[in-house]
Amino acid sequence: MEEIIKYLNDNFDRYLTELKEYIKIPSISTLEENREDIKACAEFVAGKLKSAGMTNVEIFPTENHPLVYGEWMEQPGAPIVLIYGHYDVQPVDPVEEWDTLPFEATIKDGKIYARGADDNKGQNFIHIKAVEAFMKTTQSLPVNVKFIIEGEEEIGSGNLAKFIRNNKELLKCDAVMVSDSALYAPGIPTISYGLRGIAFMEIELQGPKQDLHSGAYGGGVGNPVNELAKIIAKLHNNNGKIAIPDFYDDVKKVSKKEKESFAKLRFSDKVLCKEVGVKALQGEKGYSTLERFWVRPTLDCNGIVGGFTGEGSKTIIPAKASSKISMRLVPDQNPAKVAKAFTKYVKSLCPPSMKINVTYIAGIGAVVVPLEDKAIEAAQRALEKAFKKKTVFKREGGGIPIVLEFHKSLKAPVVLMGFGLETDNIHSPNEHFHVENFRKGLLSAAYFLDEYSKQ
Ligand code: BES
Ligand code: MN
Repeated sequence: MEEIIKYLNDNFDRYLTELKEYIKIPSISTLEENREDIKACAEFVAGKLKSAGMTNVEIFPTENHPLVYGEWMEQPGAPIVLIYGHYDVQPVDPVEEWDTLPFEATIKDGKIYARGADDNKGQNFIHIKAVEAFMKTTQSLPVNVKFIIEGEEEIGSGNLAKFIRNNKELLKCDAVMVSDSALYAPGIPTISYGLRGIAFMEIELQGPKQDLHSGAYGGGVGNPVNELAKIIAKLHNNNGKIAIPDFYDDVKKVSKKEKESFAKLRFSDKVLCKEVGVKALQGEKGYSTLERFWVRPTLDCNGIVGGFTGEGSKTIIPAKASSKISMRLVPDQNPAKVAKAFTKYVKSLCPPSMKINVTYIAGIGAVVVPLEDKAIEAAQRALEKAFKKKTVFKREGGGIPIVLEFHKSLKAPVVLMGFGLETDNIHSPNEHFHVENFRKGLLSAAYFLDEYSKQ
């Protein structure tokens, strides 16, 4: 391993330069205008897999964004690890809140600032470069490797799910490796074993056929912005519980043992307040912050629009108002069932004077992966070699849609070995990835391949 580690350290500056090129491609999967960038990004990834020594590198087109595949299968008898990542990124707005250009990676105070630096270009690049280091120094890998890097994670991975179901033989593996999550804290090697699911909804409320003068009509014609605000206010009760009937029906109780393991992590609410810039925390009564993040379902209004908020004043009753709302789900909640309960309840809150449309945009179930597996053990040993600290096991509040499918279709254990930090501003302005975590990630990924071969 010495030779490999030396190679990684010697080539570190080159990795940063290449990562900057990767980041430069604005591969935003949610926006139609970036369709060509997405394609270019898939080609970039394919090129990197080839130069890392992968064979059968192929870009698979889908109904939407392409998938990139590559493999190295020349270690008969050794296990196969499927390395998953995503090359698509979130939009950059509000762009005026960025201190640097979002697609020009800027290294400042030990951090790489750019959209996708953490989520997920920096993190999947780690694995490509770890594999390259083996290939360049030893012309082989200690285990068999397959890569699948997709362009639709941020929009739910719909086409990858189909691809997996249709290509079980191609993707057959002994374990799946995913680096798209966060360390528990700086310097603490972490394996995540749970991800929350999601149900994503939209409410559209239509009042009068067009905006009306609020003096001429106010008081006699209902206001959709007022009513939408009321509806949203009724989605929670005063204890921070979600007020939708039947919402909690299938929520699995968390064991005492697991609760105790969270308590042992000694999470600081005070530090969190400071990190996110709030005066106090808020959430479901009766649960600790980590429980609220990891094992309790939530409902958040992601945005609300309607009416006039421009310069000066314009006195109107707006014609319509709308909102997008996401619910984070936990085992064993069923996203479609939750969406149905949401729709029924929200419709019941709509006044008879208005038209309402409730749309279920997308949904994915939560997942908890078993920890008893050789791949998890290997990851733990690898992390401890790279970080020289004991590994922490945690769950995540976020979701990685395809993990459930890996679990179900490939029946493979999934190792969630992420190197981000919750404070990296993913999905938000000034996203960054710590250079130190990029380095430790590279080492961990390389050690993992070696450790996983040792069984
Ligand atoms: N990398 C994140 C998931 C994540 C976030 C893991 C925070 C751990 C901590 C991933 O790219 C992501 O953003 N997922 C989406 C999925 C959704 C669009 C279906 C999410 O969680 O919002
Ligand atoms: Mn993301």
